[in-house]
Amino acid sequence: MRLTESSGLFPAETITGSRSRPDARLFIGSGKMEQIRETARQHDADVVIFNHGLSPAQERNLEREIHCRVLDRVGLILDIFSQRAQTYEGKLQVELAQLQHLSTRLVRGWSHLERQKGGIGLRGPGETQLETDRRLIGKRIKTIRGRLDKVKSRRAQGSRARRRNNAAVVSLVGYTNAGKSTLFNRLTGADVYCADKLFATLDPVIRKTRLADNVSVLFSDTVGFIRHIPHDLVESFHATLDEIKSADLLLHVVDINDDHRMRIDEVNKVIDELGARSIPQILVFNKIDQAGMTAEDAFPGIKAGNGSNGASARAWVSALAGTGIKELKQLIHSELETGSTVNSEPPVFPAQAE
Ligand code: GTP
Repeated sequence: MRLTESSGLFPAETITGSRSRPDARLFIGSGKMEQIRETARQHDADVVIFNHGLSPAQERNLEREIHCRVLDRVGLILDIFSQRAQTYEGKLQVELAQLQHLSTRLVRGWSHLERQKGGIGLRGPGETQLETDRRLIGKRIKTIRGRLDKVKSRRAQGSRARRRNNAAVVSLVGYTNAGKSTLFNRLTGADVYCADKLFATLDPVIRKTRLADNVSVLFSDTVGFIRHIPHDLVESFHATLDEIKSADLLLHVVDINDDHRMRIDEVNKVIDELGARSIPQILVFNKIDQAGMTAEDAFPGIKAGNGSNGASARAWVSALAGTGIKELKQLIHSELETGSTVNSEPPVFPAQAE
């Protein structure tokens, strides 16, 4: 539902179902399919979205049966990504992910490629349209990969330069909509687009900020993570996420009102995949101003990390209200100094109202 709204669509109705095994042809059973067809007809729906991965054949069969465009979870995420990407790099990454996803669905024909290039003179001798499409997509993927490699090496040079400047790099990571951009703005005084939408931030943003007298850090905001994100999608965003690997400290932002344990695990899984698990983390529990919290959770405060036991440092803040930000900055400062290796007894600062 959140994903759907984020893509600018208005969900008319949600239909759930349970099946022990997906149907090979339609993913759902024929009774459920009829129910969906009828509901789509009643609402005059433009698109039917499945919150699952569908095989290309299932998607095609469903469209034929329901008489409506069908989008699966990956297709929807890609759609949101393409709306959000703003920088050159972000756009390249989205296009790569889209091409990779769509290349598995080639049997449908690539009418838009034909439209783009006029479709004349493209076909090599003896090639079917399908082969031509495959070749064109393969070529385009190669070009994009090449461009992304260039962006990547420029980025690597950038991070080397930063190291020479001796500024520590602190990367904000977290589940989508946790409040990373809002916190980033709080910490740096920047004006980064944040909205109550998933994946509002697709492009990495970096800002320099002074934490204390003569201590400067570079904060970087990154793309939000999400459950069941397909592997090739994560791969396409490696150029952005690579920023995380070169960080000295990760601020792992969590929406305290969500089912945060599961989300923390999901985010850590991606961090693992990126090979960034050894970087010290501060778990930042955000949105403590919102209702539905215990009195204990609703106060700003911090706890130092316990490096040898693997416990992360923690902070409780409201990025929106600005509560707990001063303490968080102190914690960032001390964690950067100690690298989370000191066995300090938490809490360093008792939880207290501002
Ligand atoms: P992605 O770009 O999707 O990864 O999102 P993000 O993690 O950068 O989240 P963002 O900063 O865009 O915030 C998402 C929503 O949460 C926005 O509507 C914010 O106003 C809201 N929000 C952020 N921090 C707080 C907070 O401390 N309290 C409350 N109540 N809302 C917050």
